[in-house]
Amino acid sequence: RGDGYGSRGALIVLEGLDRSGKSSQCRMLLSYLEGLGHSAELWRFPDRSTSVGKMINEYLSDKSQLDDHTIHLLFSANRWEKRSLMETKLKMGTTLIIDRYSYSGVVFSSAKGLDFEWCKTPEIGLLAPDLVVYLDILPEKAAERAGYGGERYEQLEFQKKVSQCYKLLSDFSWEIIDACQSMEDVGKQIKEIVLDQVMACKKGKPLSNLWP
Ligand code: TYD
Ligand code: MG
Repeated sequence: RGDGYGSRGALIVLEGLDRSGKSSQCRMLLSYLEGLGHSAELWRFPDRSTSVGKMINEYLSDKSQLDDHTIHLLFSANRWEKRSLMETKLKMGTTLIIDRYSYSGVVFSSAKGLDFEWCKTPEIGLLAPDLVVYLDILPEKAAERAGYGGERYEQLEFQKKVSQCYKLLSDFSWEIIDACQSMEDVGKQIKEIVLDQVMACKKGKPLSNLWP
């Protein structure tokens, strides 16, 4: 770890609709990896603790209005402000589990009607994840769960569009997991594939940038 011999942490991203179970799975994954003795941290985007994150939080809770392009760029800036720390942590050997990343950035904004390629551009040069896990759930099923929190975007009709945009953005490299299974079953599948990546990165798999 951090021994200068190429051993690094893995960059693991969980994506999915609101209420797909990402946050619970991220927490379970973190304690699983820590239990095995791996150095790991759980991050999330938006990171509402920074000054950019505070603007995003106001927007999401309907306390401010922003042009769609403007908020898109703020979400991206919120990832850029964490990029160098992200790289440092990975190179120190810490695996990062990330609850939402650039993929959320692209799909939520393009679901509003912004140009797909335009949405991808500000993400160019951010670190590329080693693994994207997509928690797949029908928007109708997600809406039946405990219910949305009342933030902007947490509405069935909009989530249907988001779901379609995820399908456009996803590729063969994503691990698609049926999020309607029990939490335990979803967790079991995630653990296996994540551990494979953690091992590959330890053995020196190189870091790369978006969009690969
Ligand atoms: P979310 O992770 O759902 O926060 P919480 O768990 O507190 O509900 O993120 C809030 C919303 O922000 C979610 O609806 C998705 C949206 N979002 C974007 O529109 N663009 C982005 O780049 C990111 C990271 C999230
Ligand atoms: Mg949410």
